[in-house]
Amino acid sequence: MSSNQSNVDFFVIKALEDGVNVIGLTRGTDTRFHHTEKLDKGEVMIAQFTEHTSAVKVRGKALIQTSHGELYSESSE
Ligand code: TRP
Repeated sequence: MSSNQSNVDFFVIKALEDGVNVIGLTRGTDTRFHHTEKLDKGEVMIAQFTEHTSAVKVRGKALIQTSHGELYSESSE
């Protein structure tokens, strides 16, 4: 994969409650968590899929916007 990823789409996650976790999962044969970012209500994370990140798990209530559309994750409670 190219190391210049400035042209790759961004996705946006807006926390709708405190303690939303945005978890990055590694690319490659070994799929594991490599980063957890905790967002409080109203906080926004803008990120990309990269050479190191092939998937993202969102835990908690959030608005997620991607080039494929917009969706809400729900709280487990
Ligand atoms: N160092 C990570 C990477 O370059 C940072 C990152 C990018 C990330 N996108 C992410 C972390 C999404 C968590 C979720 O891949």
